[in-house]
Amino acid sequence: MPEIWGTTRVLGVIGHPVRHSFSPPMQNAALAALGLDYVYVPFEVLPAALPAALEGFRAAGLVGFNATIPHKEALLELVDDATDEARLTGTVNTVHFVDGRALGDSTDGPGFVAGLAAAGVEVADRPVLLLGAGGSARAIGVSLVRAGVGRLTIANRTAARADELAARLNGQRAGVAEVTPLESAADAVGEEALVINTTSVGMHPRTDAAPLELRRVPEGGTVVDIVYNPLETKLLRRARELGARTINGCEMLVHQGALALARWTGCEPPVAVMREVLLAELAKRAGGG
Ligand code: ATR
Repeated sequence: MPEIWGTTRVLGVIGHPVRHSFSPPMQNAALAALGLDYVYVPFEVLPAALPAALEGFRAAGLVGFNATIPHKEALLELVDDATDEARLTGTVNTVHFVDGRALGDSTDGPGFVAGLAAAGVEVADRPVLLLGAGGSARAIGVSLVRAGVGRLTIANRTAARADELAARLNGQRAGVAEVTPLESAADAVGEEALVINTTSVGMHPRTDAAPLELRRVPEGGTVVDIVYNPLETKLLRRARELGARTINGCEMLVHQGALALARWTGCEPPVAVMREVLLAELAKRAGGG
């Protein structure tokens, strides 16, 4: 338990449900490692109560908060100002109160890119195969384009959603995105391949499933999965067996939190501490969903 004083500043996470969130243990460990007089608390907030929660947090002087399902889209409409990342993805996962004004940011995509950078994986000018076209794919796609990715090939079960995401990303940078059918996506794994799974396929309890059957990954290829339960999905296991570099879903989770913490406190986030706590929590809950 962190020590709480009259001076302690408050951060938090809102969600519905929020009880599965990994952020409280991860952020409180980070705040303790930095020696900061802050506490990070979970708040169960129903969708209809979101405007009241935002006003209550503002009135009570919270420094900021994270948002998870189902609030990320609605929050964008409620904040006073939003970063480019939040506007482009249409979501807010981090709010920072600055002089009473609520600034909305989205650290999911930047966190994903930061996770790649921390692992020494270059994004600039690189061709990417993006599996999925939901909210996570949108956040990651927007940030990859901002990071100067080469060509983005999107494959999704529902083709119309892939078309929609490609149109959005092409609006950000003309010609960057194209769509390929999921059935033939394995053929799109070319030289210098960077394959990113943003779908939930492979997640507990359906761990015997993979979003595509990898046949080959060229030397120097990297396969990334945002699923973190299990840490090594069927897709990542296959990629490892084929000799590819693999990055699991823990990295995005750690780095989206680290970027939020940096925004709120101005401190360099202790990424190693955050990863260690997250891995310990994941191990405790392994298989539990
Ligand atoms: P998130 O916010 O986590 O991205 P989402 O917006 O619901 O969640 O998106 C889930 C993604 O996983 C989508 O790309 C979805 O494909 P559809 O657009 O066809 O729904 C994909 N997905 C989920 N279950 C799937 C399955 N069994 N097979 C293939 N794709 C699946």
